[in-house]
Amino acid sequence: MAAPSSDWKEQIPPDEAERFERLAERLRELQRKHATDGHASRALHAKGQAGVEATFRVLPELPEHARVGLFATPASFRTWVRFSNGSGTRQHDKKGDVRGVALKLLGVPGKKLIPGMEDATTQDFLMIRTPSTPFRNADDFVWLVGAAESPALLLPRALGHFGFGRGLKLLRQLAGGIGQPMFSVATTRYFSALPIKLGPYAVRYGLTPLTAADPNAKRGSTPDYLTEELAARLAKGPIEYDFSVQFFVDETRTPIEDGSVEWKESDAPFVPLARLTLPRQELASPRGQKLASLVETLSFDPWHALAELRPLGGMMRARNQAYRLSTGERKAAPEPSGNEVPATEG
Ligand code: HEM
Repeated sequence: MAAPSSDWKEQIPPDEAERFERLAERLRELQRKHATDGHASRALHAKGQAGVEATFRVLPELPEHARVGLFATPASFRTWVRFSNGSGTRQHDKKGDVRGVALKLLGVPGKKLIPGMEDATTQDFLMIRTPSTPFRNADDFVWLVGAAESPALLLPRALGHFGFGRGLKLLRQLAGGIGQPMFSVATTRYFSALPIKLGPYAVRYGLTPLTAADPNAKRGSTPDYLTEELAARLAKGPIEYDFSVQFFVDETRTPIEDGSVEWKESDAPFVPLARLTLPRQELASPRGQKLASLVETLSFDPWHALAELRPLGGMMRARNQAYRLSTGERKAAPEPSGNEVPATEG
């Protein structure tokens, strides 16, 4: 494979940092509003479906241009995974929602991005179920999160805010994404939907399950059926996903700053770089529960990253403020070493 284009550019407006600070504060207001008994959850993705053990194995013989940062040589990283629903409040799993997955790789050497945390040994990857978002930028995203607090008024407000054509398109796209029924996290594809650097290149990343979806699958009926379904699968055996990246092609087909454009696989095919394995495990065992509780308190953040894998584009830069305010508000645990829950039953 020929080397991909490194001709991508970020465009950073001069007033952006202040604007993003206000967006982060707006999300924190909502987080405070949703707090119960004085205890704040995550501003978004408040409901964790599961916090589980995994291994992230970098594949051998990667293309030369992919051998960057933790992908430089075949290696295996212990990883903690949190599956979630996107809402800022805990809801029944059958309710339409954004669905997320967050990976925290442990023991990753190399300089990290956040000032003061350069020596951290974690690398996070965060994904949702759709390959793009309905939002061109972080302002639109945060506006919508706020407006969705009053569902009955969302339609007229969105049409007023975005104009008729764009408002309708955005709401349709949103409904299409969150309306897809969710049967199992084990058969779901997940996407970063936004780019990061891979050394001199820019990529979006994703997880593709190796387990095929059952065409006769039925949605569970209990409030936490996604957790129960995953627990039953993991009690029987491992679950695997390919971790793959799409390389930037050009600003039209694979834009850096516009989160509403899907990077089509016909333009930018996914290249597998690693295999994520959730080994057989008992979620209800004392160890499983200890890990789940710990994972709930952690902070998964796209900026917990190697300098070579820096997040790119306006929506990613907005997340640099938003996640820090949200994790501060809920007093998230510091970055873990892995010793908090040892790798095997002691
Ligand atoms: C479009 C791509 C995005 C993806 C793939 C994504 C994914 C996720 C995921 C998976 C989580 C849950 C992490 C966990 O399990 O702890 C999360 C949480 C969160 N997201 Fe995003 N997100 C995106 C965009 C944004 C944007 C644009 C903002 C705001 C500007 C934002 C703000 C937040 C906040 C505040 C949290 C809670 C942080 C915490 O307290 O841990 N996200 N996101």
